[in-house]
Amino acid sequence: MEVSDTAFDSRLVRPDAIPGETETEYSLRPHTLEEYIGQEKAKNNLKVFLEAAKMRGEPLDHLLLYGPPGLGKTTLAGIVAHEMGGQIRITSGPAIEKPGDLAALLTNLEAGDVLFIDEIHRLSRQVEEVLYPAMEDYALDIMIGKGPSAQSIRINLPQFTLIGATTRAGQLTGPLRDRFGVTLKLELYSPQELATIIRRSADILGIDSTPEGALALAKCSRGTPRVANRLLRRARDFAQVMGSGVLDENSARMALRQMDIDAEGLDTLDRSVLRGIIEMYGGGPVGLETLAALLGEEAITLEDVCEPYLMQLGYLTRTPRGRCVTLAAYAHLGLRAPTQASAYVDESFQLSLEDES
Ligand code: ADE
Repeated sequence: MEVSDTAFDSRLVRPDAIPGETETEYSLRPHTLEEYIGQEKAKNNLKVFLEAAKMRGEPLDHLLLYGPPGLGKTTLAGIVAHEMGGQIRITSGPAIEKPGDLAALLTNLEAGDVLFIDEIHRLSRQVEEVLYPAMEDYALDIMIGKGPSAQSIRINLPQFTLIGATTRAGQLTGPLRDRFGVTLKLELYSPQELATIIRRSADILGIDSTPEGALALAKCSRGTPRVANRLLRRARDFAQVMGSGVLDENSARMALRQMDIDAEGLDTLDRSVLRGIIEMYGGGPVGLETLAALLGEEAITLEDVCEPYLMQLGYLTRTPRGRCVTLAAYAHLGLRAPTQASAYVDESFQLSLEDES
């Protein structure tokens, strides 16, 4: 097994943002719901809620967005702020260390603003408690003094909308989850939706593209606009330097080949995960930590970045005894599956040597 130390850092298909990428990403973001492609269910619900809030002259209810990274949660929050005529303030759960940090953010808001807290499941309990009265009553309770003479004073806050984003809705505490009026789940995008996003982004970046070229990149974008836009920028380089300057099927395929991304959108690390399980553990089961140590990666990277997509493609299963590859994974890698049924076929029909004995 050979995996380079930098396999993850150089990944083009990781769905989380790479430092320095935010500015270009920002220029490609839609600013209205009309421009926003895909997520029809969430978008239609949001349209109704926005319309109703505007008719009543009230801020939008606090909104929880959840789903895998890179699907446009920040973008949607920006659209809500724009539609409500307010500003968006962006922060994240880990960045708010103390209750005072959150108090400072809240007191600087204006009516109609959106406070966007990414990774909201990572807020500390102390900070969360400041958020409860802010969400419920637009109020901040501050303790003055210490001991028996301590007094609590209440400061009124402007009517704002909190938008929380999380990849793990299950990790939110009950009291916090209950304070959101609306919860919207974002889904992975279809290749057709991603192709439309790629063509829109290509227009903004001034690149000519064909439907076939956009679709070839879209199919390798792991259902994620962030990945699609990143592949587009790299493919543009290949199209300009080595091709006709147009993102067509040829230049898209050439770029994907050069970037070691295969027809299903798997990169070197994804394939190493599958090969690692097959070559070192006979197809599994193997524990996540063991696999991470074998590949020289963080367990959380494998869990959050590689596994969701490998599972979606049906190449990997998580079982109580560890990770297993499926017969489809052998086929994808061009490997012969074991003759004895040691590979997992699917969750309801799991064949393993141990189970058979
Ligand atoms: N860029 C990133 N996400 C997008 C989306 N959903 N629609 C349009 N452009 C996007």
